Amino acid sequence: MNVEAERSPTATSERRQITVLFADIANSTAIAEHMDPEDWTSIVGEAFGLMNRTIERYDGTVARLMGDGVLAFFGAPVAHEDDPERAVRCGLEMVRAIDDLGTKHRAQTGADLRVRVGINTGPVVVGVVGTEKAHEYTAMGDAVNIAARMQAHAAPGSVLITAATHRFLAPLLDARDVGLLELKGKTDAVQAFAVTGLKSGAVSARGLGGIRAPMIGRDDELARLRELFAVARAGQGRVASVLGEPGIGKTRLLGELRSEVARTDPKTRWLEGRCLSYGQALPYHLVVDLVRSPLDPARAGHASAALGARPRDRQTLRRVAPHGAPCDLDRCTGGARARGSALG
Ligand SMILES: Nc1ncnc2c1ncn2[C@@H]1O[C@H](COP(=O)(O)OP(=O)(O)OP(=O)(O)O)[C@@H](O)[C@H]1O
Ligand SMILES: [Mg+2]
Repeated sequence: MNVEAERSPTATSERRQITVLFADIANSTAIAEHMDPEDWTSIVGEAFGLMNRTIERYDGTVARLMGDGVLAFFGAPVAHEDDPERAVRCGLEMVRAIDDLGTKHRAQTGADLRVRVGINTGPVVVGVVGTEKAHEYTAMGDAVNIAARMQAHAAPGSVLITAATHRFLAPLLDARDVGLLELKGKTDAVQAFAVTGLKSGAVSARGLGGIRAPMIGRDDELARLRELFAVARAGQGRVASVLGEPGIGKTRLLGELRSEVARTDPKTRWLEGRCLSYGQALPYHLVVDLVRSPLDPARAGHASAALGARPRDRQTLRRVAPHGAPCDLDRCTGGARARGSALG
C-alpha cells in the first residue's frame, strides 16, 4: 500500500505580510478560438517566459501558473523592505512586455494581446501544502483572493492595486483613484487605484510629510564634504564615502550639500545615480541611472536645467544617439523618458 505523507499547511507554514500579484492574459478565449492551438501555445509560452523573468528580476516568487495567468508573491519566502514597490514595478513592466509581444504577433493573433494585473498587500499564511508527490508553496488568506479580484477588475493592459498596497507607495506613483469596488464574496467594498506609472525620479519618502527640521550636529561632516567639493571644483577629482546605519542621515547630509552647491555655485551640474535594492539583476543599472539623471527635469532640479533643454545639449544627444528619436528630443523638453531611452 502506498501511503503518502500529508503536507499539512500548519506543519511548515508561517503568518506573514506579503504583496500578491495576479496577472492574466485578457480575452484569451476569444483570441485562441481563431488560432491554431500550437501557435497559441507557443505565444502563451513566450508570454509566461516574459512574465516569469520579470517576477524573478524583482526577486518575487512565481507561485503558480494557471491557464494563461500567473500568481506571484513578493515577501515570501524571501522578504524585502520594499516588496509592494517591487510588485508594482513588476506589474507595470509585465504590461509593457506583453504589449510588445502583442505587437510582434499582431498578424497571427488578429487582436491585441494584453495582460491584466491585480495587486494587494495583506497578511497570509504561507507554506508548502499537498502530499509528498504533489505539493506546492502557496499562500492562503483573504489578501490572495482580493488580489485575484483586483486582476478581474483591471482593464486590459493595466495594473489595479488596492489601498492596502497604495498606502506604501503613494508618493512614488502616478495613480488614479477608481473608488470603492464591490468584490464578489466580500462584505466590505475595497478601495482601488489604477496605476499609470511611476513618478519620474521619485524615491521612497522619509520622515513626516510636510515637516522639515533644520539639520543638527553634522557641521564637521558637511565641512569635510565642502572641502572635497572645492578641490573637485578646481579640477581634481575626489571621492567621499558616507557610511552609516539606516536612517542616520546619509541622504540628508548629501541633500544639504546639494542645496548649498545649487545656491552658491549654480553652474555646477549635479549628477546622481541611485542603487536600487532590486538593481543587482538590472545590467549596468547604476551607470544607466547616472546617465539618465541629467536628462530628467525632476532630478536635474527643473526642466530648463535638464540636459536636452539646451540646443547645444540636444546636438550632443543627436550625435551620441543618431538613431534615437530627434523629434522626441524636441517635443518633450519637459519629459525625460524619451530622452532617457535614446541613450538606452
Ligand atoms: N542631522 C540631522 N538633523 C535633523 N534631521 C535629520 C538629521 N539627519 C537625518 N535627519 C532626518 O532623519 C530622517 C532619516 O534620514 P536619512 O533619510 O538621511 O537617513 P539615511 O541614512 O539616508 O537612511 P537610509 O540608510 O535608510 O537611506 C530624515 O527625515 C532626515 O531629514
Ligand atoms: Mg538614504
